[in-house]
Amino acid sequence: MASITIRNLDETAKRRLRERAARNGRSMEEEARLLIQELPVSRDADSNGATDGNERLHVALEEERSSGNSFAVNDYPAAGKRILLIIGGGIAAYKCLDLIRRLRERRVEVRAIMTKAAQEFITPLSVGALSAQKVFTDLFDREDEQDVGHIRLAREADLVLVAPATADLMAKMANGLVDDLASAVLLATRAPVVVAPAMNPAMWDHPATRRNLAVLKADGIRIEGPAKGEMAESGESGTGRMVDPMILVDLIGDLLDDRPKPLAGKRAVVTSGPTHETIDPVRYIANRSSGKQGHAIAAALAALGAEVILVSGPVTIPVPRDVALVEVESAREMLRAVEAALPAEIAVMVAAVADFRIARESSQKIKKNKRTTRQPLELIENPDILKTIGHHKRRPSLVVGFAAETENLVKNAQAKLESKGADWIIANDVSLSSGVRGGVMGGDRNSISLLTRTGISKWPEMSKLEVARRLAEAIVESLSTSRVEV
Ligand code: CTP
Repeated sequence: MASITIRNLDETAKRRLRERAARNGRSMEEEARLLIQELPVSRDADSNGATDGNERLHVALEEERSSGNSFAVNDYPAAGKRILLIIGGGIAAYKCLDLIRRLRERRVEVRAIMTKAAQEFITPLSVGALSAQKVFTDLFDREDEQDVGHIRLAREADLVLVAPATADLMAKMANGLVDDLASAVLLATRAPVVVAPAMNPAMWDHPATRRNLAVLKADGIRIEGPAKGEMAESGESGTGRMVDPMILVDLIGDLLDDRPKPLAGKRAVVTSGPTHETIDPVRYIANRSSGKQGHAIAAALAALGAEVILVSGPVTIPVPRDVALVEVESAREMLRAVEAALPAEIAVMVAAVADFRIARESSQKIKKNKRTTRQPLELIENPDILKTIGHHKRRPSLVVGFAAETENLVKNAQAKLESKGADWIIANDVSLSSGVRGGVMGGDRNSISLLTRTGISKWPEMSKLEVARRLAEAIVESLSTSRVEV
């Protein structure tokens, strides 16, 4: 079997491995060996291009993570906190039983309120048995009013989670209606509120639900999901499934994590998305960048406490939480916004900047019957933002760029590392033959190699979110003076 150097693993992998090893009473090396041996053959080296021991271990840890088995049970940031879970009336209510179990094993206290409709799907008895708490069901319960009234229930929660949130519950919340215990608590609470919707796709798409959703978001409520997939109704599928309980466990951990963040006090500027270069009032030059990778990196840096300025070209994806968004169109606007964000400790230039723009933008729509349209459009070079920042007098201490390549990946990326004055280049195979499921441009997955001044490491194919998390952790490690050794 290939050799494993645990020291070279990123922080997340080390932490996961350490927890697993501690749980099983084994050394980290032993645990790593077993994990790789358990890796199913179909997910082994060949399908991921993971040929070395560390890469295979990453694949194994990734597998475990996506199956929901390796989250930090002993080191959960929300341990000791109190969650008030409001269970709405939908078939997905059964998922709350697993959710309660997972939160409880992470030492979270879970109090539950069940709406009347929820009790048609699961019973207060099972919810009470799993939460080891009285389950609250009625607004006008004399005993409860003397004991734990709705105001106290609202106040004593560190976070309120509504799952599954039906269209009806969301409508009530958006309009401040109160006709039962759940809606009374939701109006009375000052704790952060997370809503995990679940409903039929047609209900989710309905303009009324869209309106309510916009109101809830504007009120600062965090919406998680719904996910795409098969519906309970036979033969139906679409967007409307409640997200997996582990996603909620993870989110709650993030939201209630009050431990000091490793990038607190550091500023990061991230570029993302395409640029649009105007031809005339109705036309522009663009590219296929979706902004998914850049936005995910901005979110991952913010989650680790950095003050993030996200300079983005036109995209249609949501703005990540806790980042300051600066919207731009052209490369020149992007450069101005990036320079205005300096000084910063970290710069990650992910945007697919147009290399050229039109020499003379037309102030009028170019007509096809005019002779001018037959003449080729003259292009001039745009400023290179990464190169400018890499050689800037206020250069951030860590400058990271991407290299989108369709051939000679490493050679071209190495040349960019030099010419652009970057510390790291993330080499990205964007060719259609990259083998990445769904393609890199516009897709959700990525396959990258990280080039530094001292070497190169190839990462296995993973989601863009995971690339972002791992990159953010690598940034923490490179900026910190004390390295964590295992
Ligand atoms: N970049 C930039 N400004 C530009 C062009 C690129 O900041 N005008 C940045 C990108 O955000 C990325 C890196 O430079 O971090 C490399 O971009 P890429 O498109 O791969 O390369 P180019 O520099 O455009 O070179 P080429 O098109 O020849 O591959």
